[in-house]
Amino acid sequence: MRISQCREEDLELLDQHMPFRGAASHHGARYARQQEGRATFLVAWRERRPVGSCEVRWEGCEAPEVRAAHPGCPEVNGLGGWPETLRSLGVGTALIHEAERLATGRGCQAIGLGVEKNNPRASALYSRLGYHASLPYLDCWSYQDGAGVAHRVADACVFMVKPL
Ligand SMILES: CC(C)(COP(=O)(O)OP(=O)(O)OC[C@H]1O[C@@H](n2cnc3c(N)ncnc32)[C@H](O)[C@@H]1OP(=O)(O)O)[C@@H](O)C(=O)NCCC(=O)NCCS
Repeated sequence: MRISQCREEDLELLDQHMPFRGAASHHGARYARQQEGRATFLVAWRERRPVGSCEVRWEGCEAPEVRAAHPGCPEVNGLGGWPETLRSLGVGTALIHEAERLATGRGCQAIGLGVEKNNPRASALYSRLGYHASLPYLDCWSYQDGAGVAHRVADACVFMVKPL
């Protein structure tokens, strides 16, 4: 497995292999933030197929209460592996380790991520990797599906932090 920063020519493969609730521009939006210098969009590859991704948001979590509690703490956002048959093989762990390596290189003293309260398996993974629960917050975000319909989502989450 190899991890690299997303390139423009990777977007089509990401949309093809890692669908996201029918949202056509999902990966494009993450790539655009990377181009603006606000994020690093990491992609895990198995041969020539993308099998996982995450976005390191250098400005931190969007929720103001999380940013206030953890100023200067980047966030690993949108961690996911696809297809399901390739989960539990270390892809998620490798993406998190690469995000931590980049954050350390930038002099960050901590890194964090939000996990939905109803996702105990993901929480267990992050705890094993050294993250501890810090504060609950509501993750409010929206996306447009393939038919152009806008969806607004509010997920009850816990922000987890790891000192670097
Ligand atoms: C969570 C996820 C990114 C982890 O990636 P991964 O490549 O499976 O992770 P690793 O192989 O490094 O670690 C495996 C651990 O991930 C967790 N995990 C595995 N499958 C999972 C799933 N479907 N949902 C949530 N967590 C999962 C478990 O703790 C697992 O440990 P186990 O195999 O001992 O049960 C991936 O499983 C996934 O995309 N899940 C669905 C989306 C999701 O829940 N994203 C997290 C948002 S905070």
